[in-house]
Amino acid sequence: MSARKRIIQVLGLVAVGGLSLGLAACSGGADDGGSAGGDGGGSDELISVGFVAVGPEGGWRQANEQNIKDTFTKEAGYDLSYAPAANLDQKSQIDNFTSFVDEGVDVILLSATEATGWEDSLKRAQEAEIPVILLDRGIEPEDTSLYVTRIAPDNVEVAKEVGAWAAAQFPDGGNYVVLEGPAGVGVVNERNKGFEEGLGDSSLNKVDAQTANWSTEEGKSVLETMLKANDNDIQFVFAQNDEMGLGAAQAAEEAGLAVGTDIKIATIDGTKNAMQALADGKLSYVHEYNPLFGETALDVVTKALAGEEVDPYIIVPSEEFDSAEAAKAVLADRKY
Ligand code: AHR
Repeated sequence: MSARKRIIQVLGLVAVGGLSLGLAACSGGADDGGSAGGDGGGSDELISVGFVAVGPEGGWRQANEQNIKDTFTKEAGYDLSYAPAANLDQKSQIDNFTSFVDEGVDVILLSATEATGWEDSLKRAQEAEIPVILLDRGIEPEDTSLYVTRIAPDNVEVAKEVGAWAAAQFPDGGNYVVLEGPAGVGVVNERNKGFEEGLGDSSLNKVDAQTANWSTEEGKSVLETMLKANDNDIQFVFAQNDEMGLGAAQAAEEAGLAVGTDIKIATIDGTKNAMQALADGKLSYVHEYNPLFGETALDVVTKALAGEEVDPYIIVPSEEFDSAEAAKAVLADRKY
């Protein structure tokens, strides 16, 4: 019997035990509390966790996945199986997901490389009574009957704050471009939606938007092309993650544009490299997308296995940093 099923059984016994204890108390019967429901049926068996992960993708991903591994340890009572995607390929994730269902793990953690194509896998896990918890990435449709919850910072709100900051920086408008994450990844649409909401009625004018696949090298080459196509007449870059923004900073410098005066660059994630670049004036704004939510995930797993209610979307708080001084103030203590 898997640890999950045993926990639910033990909790059932404890509930029955509690009821009998309660009844005993009502009837004045003393009970040492040690018999009904036993000693809580504690077990030294580990709770098996299948982590369908993204794998190597950049600084944010490394911090997020390491935090999960550091939280779900054997000492904490978990047997975590880490299954990164092969080259960000969704099919490898679906294969890993299916293997975990077939193994009968107690719970699955899923960070999806693609937003769609998960219904069959989630239904299989549901039939096997294996709770699924989404980490970071949302999936479509948002059918919360098929998964326990999504744990992530709120991409729409994060990007909305980026948009509001950009609008305030350019009261007289200007031209901007967006460096997006890979097509098909849920957070890309959420960040575009939030950014445009944050811009409000700003007269900033979008002249281009392209994916640079979360990569510094592509961020640099894509912005180089955009600058050439617009004769350097671009005043603002919204890079949907730090690595692309750092690439954009390199492209701006090579085009002879001074970040902060000729062009401003805003990014999302808040990794050390970006915060150092912000402190050095190579970026203009960084919004954290806090990856360190392992303890929250562990709490959710505990509740899910105990059959307790869990909110369908658990927002991880994240801060914005809009100046070199703000970055310098936190750099020394940065955990990722
Ligand atoms: O889903 C979160 C995004 O994925 C991060 O912003 C990016 O750095 C990562 O690759």
